[in-house]
Order: sequence, then structure tokens, then C-alpha cells
Amino acid sequence: MLPVPQRSHAPEWMDRADNTRADLEGALRDIELTNRLLGGRKALLRALRPHLAPGPSGRLELLDVGTGSADLPLALACFAESSGASVRITAVDRDPTTAGLAAEQTASTTCVRVVQADAFRLPFAPRSFDVVTASMFLHHFRHEDVVRLLDSFRSLARRAVVINDLRRHWLPYGFIYLVARLTRRHPMYVHDAPLSVLRGFTAPELREAATEAGAADFRLDRRWPFRLVLTLPAAARA
Ligand SMILES: C[S@@+](CC[C@H](N)C(=O)[O-])C[C@H]1O[C@@H](n2cnc3c(N)ncnc32)[C@H](O)[C@@H]1O
Repeated sequence: MLPVPQRSHAPEWMDRADNTRADLEGALRDIELTNRLLGGRKALLRALRPHLAPGPSGRLELLDVGTGSADLPLALACFAESSGASVRITAVDRDPTTAGLAAEQTASTTCVRVVQADAFRLPFAPRSFDVVTASMFLHHFRHEDVVRLLDSFRSLARRAVVINDLRRHWLPYGFIYLVARLTRRHPMYVHDAPLSVLRGFTAPELREAATEAGAADFRLDRRWPFRLVLTLPAAARA
């Protein structure tokens, strides 16, 4: 059996502050394709299915942090509506160009609004959302910050927090390293996608972070092919 690689903290190009719109657009398009073809979207929708009931506003209020092009909020809005649920999604990204691209991509729907904000300084009151989600986002941070973010997401949620991220392993690393090159993906994706796998988590690491964030009762699912989906309950009312 292959040993699990050490967790990497090397920087991703996507996290640079001076990326061009064309580069972000190209890399986000490739991430969108990965979500569609490699299980990311399916894993998220499956985890959200039990949480689609409307909240106090009469509809499901959801926050998606580190939203990228907002492809997942859009997929979720369609999915919720096809299940008869009314939904409003707030999609947050720190990068102004990315937030602009997400706003353009969601312009045709009133179900998704885009807010440019830093996940560590979110401009929302506690318990503002029924559900908080973050996909392929937590791997951008070190353990202490992952714990801080989980804690803050739990206090923003009334019901649950759903985290969808990458499982660190040599197999998905080798796979995405080769496929990204052979299929001539965008250079930012070619650099960041295999690195993201090395910045991903093992199941025990995510369990430890959830426990340190104060969640006594949580669920961790492995989803095909190399995804981890962590579902935490909202923080108890103060
Ligand atoms: C790998 S992309 C994931 C996009 C999307 N969630 C998906 O799964 O397709 C990570 C996103 O997180 C954003 N991001 C990174 N640090 C952030 C922060 N501190 N606050 C908010 N967004 C951040 C980046 O700008 C980027 O768009």
C-alpha cells in the first residue's frame, strides 16, 4: 500500500493577488469541469439532500465560502428547485476578479448573490444561514486556520456545515498530474490541481479539526473517487 504523502503548504497560483482575469477564468473553467466529472458536485448535492427544508425565512438560506466561479451554488440552486425547495445562496469569494466572474455567471438567477469578502472576516451575523458549505476551500489553509474557519462556519449556521474537500493520496495526485498535462488544461490548473491534492486531508486530520472546532457530533464520508465530506452540526445557541 502507498504511504500517504506529507501535507504540503506550498502556495497555489490561484491564491496570488495579481492574477489576470483570463488566467482565473481559464483555471476556474477547469475546476468546474473537475467538479462535474470527478465527483465534487455529486458529493456536495448528496450531502445537502437531508438539509433542504426551508428555514425561518420560508426558504433555504445557504452560504457558500470560497465559491470560485459559483458553479456549485448554481448547481445547487437547480437541484433544490427540482426537489421543490426554494433557496437563496450567498456565494463568497475573497478575490475581487473571481467574485466578479461569479457575479457574471450567476446574473441570470435571483437565487444566488455574490459577495466579495474574506472568509476570516465574514460580514454576517451569527445564525444568518441554515447551511454553510465550503468546497475545495479548506485545503488552502493550515490546521489552526481550518479549525478557526470551522468554528466560525458553525456559528453562522442554524442547521449544518458541509465541507467537501480532497483526500490526500498519491493516486489522485498522479492521476490529476498526468490528466491535466495530457489534456492541456490551463497552466494555473496544471500547477494547482496536483498541489491541491497534496494540500488535502486525511480522514483523521479532518476529524481532529472538527473535534477541535467544538463539534462533538459530526459525520465524515468518503466519496468516490477521493473526496471527503464532513457534515457538522451548527453551534449550540449562545
Ligand atoms: C479551489 S477554488 C474552489 C472554488 C469552488 N468552491 C469549487 O469547489 O469549485 C478556492 C477559492 O477560494 C477562494 N479563497 C481563497 N482564500 C479565501 C479567503 N480567505 N476567503 C474567501 N475566499 C477565498 C479563492 O479565491 C478561490 O476562488
